Amino acid sequence: MNKEMILVLDFGGQYNQLIARRVRDCSVYCEVHNYDISMDEIKAKNPKGIIFTGGPNSIYENNSPKVDEEIYKLGVPVLGLCYGAQMMTHQFGGEVSTAPVSEFGKARLKIDKRDGILKDVRDDTTCWMSHVDYISKVPSGFETVAHTIDCPVAVMENREENLYAIQFHPEVNHTEEGPKILSNFILNICGCKGDWKMDSYADEQIKSIREKVKGGKVLCALSGGVDSSVSAVLLSKAIGSQLTCVFVDHGLLRKNEAEEVSRVFGPDGDYNLNFIKVDAKQRYYDKLKGIIEPEEKRKAIGEEFIRIFEEEAKKIGTVDYLVQGTIYPDVIESGLGKSAVIKSHHNVGGLPDHVDFKEIIEPLRPLFKDEVRKLGRELGLPDYLVNRQPFPGPGLGIRIIGEVTADKVKIVQEADAIFREELDKSGVVANQYFAALTNMRSVGVMGDFRTYDYAIALRAVTTTDFMTAESANLPWELLEKVTTRIVNEVEHVNRVFYDLTGKPPGTIEFE
Ligand code: XMP
Repeated sequence: MNKEMILVLDFGGQYNQLIARRVRDCSVYCEVHNYDISMDEIKAKNPKGIIFTGGPNSIYENNSPKVDEEIYKLGVPVLGLCYGAQMMTHQFGGEVSTAPVSEFGKARLKIDKRDGILKDVRDDTTCWMSHVDYISKVPSGFETVAHTIDCPVAVMENREENLYAIQFHPEVNHTEEGPKILSNFILNICGCKGDWKMDSYADEQIKSIREKVKGGKVLCALSGGVDSSVSAVLLSKAIGSQLTCVFVDHGLLRKNEAEEVSRVFGPDGDYNLNFIKVDAKQRYYDKLKGIIEPEEKRKAIGEEFIRIFEEEAKKIGTVDYLVQGTIYPDVIESGLGKSAVIKSHHNVGGLPDHVDFKEIIEPLRPLFKDEVRKLGRELGLPDYLVNRQPFPGPGLGIRIIGEVTADKVKIVQEADAIFREELDKSGVVANQYFAALTNMRSVGVMGDFRTYDYAIALRAVTTTDFMTAESANLPWELLEKVTTRIVNEVEHVNRVFYDLTGKPPGTIEFE
């Protein structure tokens, strides 16, 4: 392999993929491997630099993970973080002790020598500490170049041997100068040029998918969401018509969504794949008839999806691989170190047990959402697909309180399209916004007539993680305009509410 790469050796820390992400932020290719990878494999990979991650162990525990010390003789710069820093200290004859004061959280980083890995790093900024043990004696040949009040050796280095150790976590957002410190290591010390791009990621994935799949058949449940769309495009570039994408129109999609997805992926689109659009609208409306309880509704929507997916898979015959649009935050949510459970929200309710396949392909697994969007753009996907807000698998089904009917879907689709159009035009920033149909009907007056119609609820939230959220502070004029347009343009709506509830105590969706 002749491209520049940084090898990250994993000691079980929480932030390992974040380190990889920071390396990619420097436009350098990166691979994360378990710490016990063989020296021969490391040599074959020919890394320009090596980073040891943190980990939960103490260096003095029996069987605590340790790297083969031959690694220090490769002549490649090495950076140890947290546990990795302590292990390096231990292996070079320094001392690691239990700190009198454990440090968890923010600390002020005092620079003693602004050079090398700390070149141009500002003094007295916040760094993120998370440790019980600390470096109590610097090994010979090393020099302390930064400290905090409770940590005498926050950063140490041995310039001659090109070895660096950092007690805190430069990879997390809380460490203000983290990106600078890591780029000093990657670009200045390892000498990487930083010319790797997301399309190189695509090329590598395409190559490895081809090698894996060979002549086999691959099935992808395409929802039209960002992750499944980008996965489908990547697979289609790799294996073309060996890929079949099943897109289920469950009649609970946003206005024009089914047409947009079909236009991009269907026979007249840009991708040479077998695209199967299943029109299951009526089937869903029949199934949802009379159901008002939210969990029952979600379950019904999910089950129906599985039945349809199974039917389509049977028609294709033997499927060798199944594509999943798992991205890195999904892996974190499903438990680090374990393989990701199949995530219900890519395909509404999980995947069928009865579809036989050899393996799952997850081409986006190491990426974060914004990286997936970047990849999608570089693969030529249209902006409206790439920039999509999260849309729940059960779709408008959980934005219609009470029984779902075709008529109610139409009402919420129209109101939602107006709200999204006006909010997009206004330039206001909200992370998720949509209209929902309350099950409330009330009396109104239109022209000379009394009306007895539905109320629409508008929801717009700002959030970073979707676990908590605030209602977005929308300008009054915008709310007025949207309200006027909805009551004028959407039949059977005579009132519009704006939901000011945060999460908690509310949720973002209505059911
Ligand atoms: P809540 O309503 O729980 O939503 O505050 C948090 C985020 O998750 C999305 N959401 C879902 N996404 N399948 C999904 O793919 C689901 O069943 C589902 N339910 C909620 C919601 O849109 C919001 O972004």
